[in-house]
Amino acid sequence: MMGCMEERTMKRVLITGGSQGLGLSLARSFGKREAKVVVVARDAKRLEAAVSGLRKEGLDVHGIAFDVGSKEDIHRIAAMAEELAGPIDTLVHNASTLGPLPMPELSSLSCEAFQAVLETNLLGPFRLTKALLGSMALRPESSPTVVFLSSDAATSAYPGWGAYGVSKAAADHLMRSFAAEVPEVRFLSVDPGEMDTAMHRDAIPDADPATLARPDAVAEAIVAQVLPKAATGSRRIALGDA
Ligand SMILES: NC(=O)c1ccc[n+]([C@@H]2O[C@H](COP(=O)([O-])OP(=O)(O)OC[C@H]3O[C@@H](n4cnc5c(N)ncnc54)[C@H](OP(=O)(O)O)[C@@H]3O)[C@@H](O)[C@H]2O)c1
Repeated sequence: MMGCMEERTMKRVLITGGSQGLGLSLARSFGKREAKVVVVARDAKRLEAAVSGLRKEGLDVHGIAFDVGSKEDIHRIAAMAEELAGPIDTLVHNASTLGPLPMPELSSLSCEAFQAVLETNLLGPFRLTKALLGSMALRPESSPTVVFLSSDAATSAYPGWGAYGVSKAAADHLMRSFAAEVPEVRFLSVDPGEMDTAMHRDAIPDADPATLARPDAVAEAIVAQVLPKAATGSRRIALGDA
């Protein structure tokens, strides 16, 4: 019971990529536990619609339209999130790009496209973690946690998934390296598994949605099962660990 109350009263959550898919579901799962949630996405209209839906459900959610792949936006994201929610104790790196569609093999991928994938999936999370790290480390009583959304493409190589897979593998190791260096903050990565989202439809348009997990179920598993018990530096499978 005590743990429950702490969970309810402490959480101030920043989620990148919260206007659809898993990020939106995570915002709902945290919000239902009375967290103050700030979500980031680029498309302001879609973000606004998503956030107003969550607010109608009675949840304390704010949306800020920025690009995590843009160096200039990172300090704005951190500053606005703390202004809206207070000191952030849970940072979720969920926003991600696959790169060009349909996903080309590495031999046909331009260096610029490869770089753009790394900017969003790796450098953005690195910069945003650094922007919030000092504030998070100063509040060990709030159980500060940084979560990276990973993928099985981080551990297995598939044709066409090279840039994305490299970015996710590097982000996993970024997570482990932060964990080794900053004991005051917990770092973990979570592979959500294959979900019925826009990203999955972009990557594999002919997949049968019935074979894919619902983002709401994955978000609940992450928030209720994985987050409470995952050790720093660990890489978890959302539904496998639930
Ligand atoms: N779906 C799967 O099967 C699957 C499997 C393994 C791992 N994952 C991982 O799970 C996470 C969520 O995936 P998803 O399927 O829910 O993705 P999604 O449906 O494509 O949603 C992505 C969200 O991120 C936002 N976003 C994308 N680029 C951004 C940027 N540069 N700056 C700010 N926001 C940005 C999008 O909004 P805007 O476009 O408006 O910015 C959107 O809200 C990702 O990290 C993905 O790699 C997904």
